Amino acid sequence: MDKLVINGRKRLSGVVEISGAKNAALPIMAASLLAAGEHNIANIPKLRDVMTMGRLIANLGAGFHLEDSRAILDCTAIGNYEAPYDLVSTMRASVLILGPLLARLGKAKVSLPGGCAIGARPINLHLMGLEKMGAKIKLESGYVLAKAKRLKGAQIYFDTPTVTGTENIMMAAALAEGKTVIENAAREPEVVDLANALISMGAKIRGVGDSVVEVEGVNRLSPLDYNIIPDRIEAGTFMTIAGITGSDITIKKCRPDHLDALINKLQDSGIRFHKVRNGLRVVGPERPAAVSTKTMPYPGFPTDMQAQFMAMMCIAEGSSVISEKIFENRFMHVAELRRMGADIMIEGGTATIRGIDLLKGAPLMATDLRASASLIVAALAAEGTTTVHRIYHLDRGYEKIEEKLQRLGAEVRREKE
Ligand code: EPZ
Repeated sequence: MDKLVINGRKRLSGVVEISGAKNAALPIMAASLLAAGEHNIANIPKLRDVMTMGRLIANLGAGFHLEDSRAILDCTAIGNYEAPYDLVSTMRASVLILGPLLARLGKAKVSLPGGCAIGARPINLHLMGLEKMGAKIKLESGYVLAKAKRLKGAQIYFDTPTVTGTENIMMAAALAEGKTVIENAAREPEVVDLANALISMGAKIRGVGDSVVEVEGVNRLSPLDYNIIPDRIEAGTFMTIAGITGSDITIKKCRPDHLDALINKLQDSGIRFHKVRNGLRVVGPERPAAVSTKTMPYPGFPTDMQAQFMAMMCIAEGSSVISEKIFENRFMHVAELRRMGADIMIEGGTATIRGIDLLKGAPLMATDLRASASLIVAALAAEGTTTVHRIYHLDRGYEKIEEKLQRLGAEVRREKE
């Protein structure tokens, strides 16, 4: 296992280039199961989860390899329909092969994803939607067994917008017989990117990005030749790094229009943004002002940015209140931030942060992907040395993070445990 050692309180500067979006790459790679032939997906981030998804799809009979940041998948000979526990347990997003497999083969056997650090993460809405489309589903010794001769279009209402649930149903509906209407669909940019990728394969989808999405099933789809969007959460993470260290950095290959809610809050805290060619210049203030927020489904404040934003609020001028409305246990970073001197009180799903002048470096433990990111954000502004252990959590969602930080002038190095 690796750890990151960071000497904080350095003002950063320079340019950082954002990688492709992990949460667009995963569903779009799964969509390749819907069509025989060779698929070409560009701007793929080199991340553990992407390699796991590739292995999962290869395990079903596909060919998979990465050429630089391009994923090549040949899904002509899909024969196996089982996603084993050892693969699924390392990545919850494996559930994304359920819809495409059912649509392509008429059957799927996918290990139930366990919970994870941030919550129970049920998939009841995914299964409800597929059943409405005619799938016979049963749960047996930790697996979802699903069968459907041919999926039929249906009217599906989600009690709560679910990102991968919307993605699973959209992919299943693309090859179903008739029309599927998804109400209260998730509207995240990654869901939109998947819809655009499916349309490029010949799918008929209306209402992309709205909370009501209509999919008219077709008989056949053609292979992908698609370029995925940049990772808005990686871009947002670097914005909070500029904010907490008072740095002036330029973020290339980012889509500011995917981050309106976050940018709004960062502007309230004193960060200034200037559009530049193919990116955004971000200038952090001497000290951020305290700003409160709550996480909501898109276009609200993204839950995947809650921990990083909280790290920045730890040294803000004043007190802020952050409510986590999406997941039941997404405050794993709080105990670690407290070890750096942060003054944070938790009451249920709400954290009150009283800004202090300076965080102190400390040995810390990463627990989940975005909590680990928040520890890096805090360490870059802290006095002294911080060691973040178990950074395999971080490697799931950030491509070469220490190299990108070093290029900005940060004193950070990766060491073996
Ligand atoms: C996706 O997870 C992302 N993962 C998460 O990113 C992200 O935090 C989350 O959406 C919210 O934006 C991928 O896209 C691979 P949900 P997902 O279904 O789809 C409840 C990261 O850091 N729910 O939108 O699993 C659920 O419990 C990861 O990259 C049900 O009740 O999230 C939660 O409270 C972490 N039943 C809420 O909906 C269901 O069947 C939103 O979950 C499905 C979800």
